Order: sequence, then structure tokens, then C-alpha cells
Amino acid sequence: MKHEAKRSTAHLSRYVPDLEPEQLQEQMELEQAIRLSMNESVYGPSPKVIEAIQEWTGAHAHRYPDTRLTKLRHALATYHNVHPDAFVFTNGLDEMIQTLPRTFVEAGDEVLVHTPTFPEYASQAQVDGARIVAVPNKNFGIDWEGMRAAITDRTKLIYLCNPNNPTASLEPLSSIQAFLDQVPAHILVVLDEAYFEFTGLPESQSGVAIFDQYPNLMIMRTFSKAYGLANIRCGYSILHEAAAEIVDATRTPFNVSGLTELAALAGFQDQAYLAEVVEATRLEREKWLAFLDDMQLTHYPSYTNFVMFEVPDAAQLIANLREHGYMLTTHSFPNWIRLTLPNAQDGARLRDLMRQALS
Ligand SMILES: Cc1ncc(COP(=O)(O)O)c(C=O)c1O
Repeated sequence: MKHEAKRSTAHLSRYVPDLEPEQLQEQMELEQAIRLSMNESVYGPSPKVIEAIQEWTGAHAHRYPDTRLTKLRHALATYHNVHPDAFVFTNGLDEMIQTLPRTFVEAGDEVLVHTPTFPEYASQAQVDGARIVAVPNKNFGIDWEGMRAAITDRTKLIYLCNPNNPTASLEPLSSIQAFLDQVPAHILVVLDEAYFEFTGLPESQSGVAIFDQYPNLMIMRTFSKAYGLANIRCGYSILHEAAAEIVDATRTPFNVSGLTELAALAGFQDQAYLAEVVEATRLEREKWLAFLDDMQLTHYPSYTNFVMFEVPDAAQLIANLREHGYMLTTHSFPNWIRLTLPNAQDGARLRDLMRQALS
């Protein structure tokens, strides 16, 4: 029997990930392969996370997990100085990005994004019949005037990704606030700060600092990036009470496992490790930005753990680097590469290889 997709999903295609590094290693008989195409942490999680997982006795494995993730919720509420009820936890932020349009968008409603940005905002909203309005970025950042002008009576959700994936650029909190001042209060503005920790900025520069002032603002954070827990799947969002209540009602009740909570909490509690990761990333980022300038390659500014730059022939460069075990990818535009920053040792080697390949 042939199953027909509903109309709004017919044009969507499967997410095609890069190879597992071990697959490339085997295929090309390499000593090592490093995936720098998916914005994963190259440092991995805190050793305390591994310890916590190893010490898990499984005593409660037969019981459903705590649907409120009470321990993690209270730890984060104290850290962010936000009421514990404002948090909604999901199986990665991906699940929240799936849940938001299901909850708030009727067919024909508009979802406003800047572009390029994280493609899941658009693809998940399209499943629910949203019309995507995409405003091209301008001068290596968000075109705020264009975004404001694109708001209509049908706009239901606005996504702001900061720092932005794939460009790595960062908008100052003052620009976000100035925009929020112009958005009608019935439109939910979703500020995705998946990469915020990598900026090294204090929490006073995060959207969380202005959360109380905007009843239509929500903020998303994840343990997948700086905490190095992409495989564990834990994202958290901070929402005002009315929105939190509805979203909580539409998510499935046991979407985050107890083992995930345990691992995320152990990662969160090791802020010293997080600071080391952020500092190592900052040092590597400086080297890459200097290198890109030196090579006269057009690039976005970067405030996170990846950089985006243009090369004359991306396919050739990527194929060349794969032979040395470095997995890179193009993104959004022809000949633009989005590179997850490697560790210091791989970084030095990769820059040497690129220098040879490009000169
Ligand atoms: C901007 C942004 N938001 C959200 C996500 C989803 O993260 P996760 O589902 O791992 O929490 C990603 C993943 O790459 C991302 O880049």
C-alpha cells in the first residue's frame, strides 16, 4: 500500500547527516576522522557526566521519569534567576521546534525567520501548514528593518537565532530588545540561544536578562553544544506562564528520560569544565579568524564554536580535507563552508592543510 503524505509535508525531504566519523575512517583507511560538519563539541562532556552515568544503578529504570525534571529545573531556575515553572524540557531543542508550530500555528499562518538560519524552524512549521516568510540577512547580521516590515496580521511565530547557525554572527541584546519593542504582543518571539555559552558573555547579555519585560518572549538553550551532550538530548526553554502551560500540555509527558536528566545535571554542575571549553573555543576561534583574514577569505564574524567562510571551490577543498580525515560541509550558499572549530592540535594541522590546498 502506498501512503500519501499530507499536502504540507509532501515537499519535505529526509535529514541527511554526515557519515559517522568511524565510517569515513574505515572507508578511507585513515588513522582518525574528525567530524567538523555538525557543530558538535570537539571537547565532549565533563568527566563528571561520564561518572554520573556509570554510577547510575538503574534502580528506577522501571518507573517513568519525573515529568517535571524537578532537580534540573530547580538548579536552572536558581542559575537563571527565573521562576521554576517557566522551564519546559524537551528531547533536544529539536523537539521544542517541532512542538511550537503544532501548538500555535494554524494552516496558513505565517512564521517569520531570518535567512540563512537553522533550517528546522521552517521545515517543522511547514508540517503544520505554516507559510514561511524568510528575510535575508544583511551586512553579516539580521536585517531588523526587513524583519519588522515582514510582520503581518498572520504572523504567529518569529524565530531569532543568536548566535546564528550557520553564520556564527551575534546580535547585541540591545538590537533584540529594540526589535521586541516593535513586535505586537500576541506574536511569540522565540530566541534560540543554543550557542550562547560559547560567546563567553555574561548571562546579563542573554535574552534571559530581559525575559521579564516581554510577555511574548521565549528563550531556548541546549545541553547539546557547549556542554557536549548532543547524544543525550536535553534542551530547555524559558517561557511565560500561559505559553509554558500550553506547550507543556502538547508535549508528550515522558519526553526526557531520567538518565538524560542525571547527565544534564552533572554537566550543568561542572561550570568549571564549561569555562575551560569556552576558553579553549575562544582561543581557537581567534586563530581561525586571523587565518581567514590572512588568507583573504570572506567570512562572517564568529562568536561561537564554528566559522563560516567562502572559498573558490568548496567541493574540491572538502574532498581534499576528507582524505586527511577532516569532515567539513558547505552551508546555505555555494562555496561557503561552515566549519566547527577543531581542538588546538587539529586546528593547527587543518590550517596547514588548507594553506597548502588554497595556495
Ligand atoms: C541553532 C540551533 N538550534 C537548535 C538546535 C537543536 O539542538 P538540540 O536538538 O541538539 O538541542 C541546533 C542544532 O544544531 C541549532 O544549531
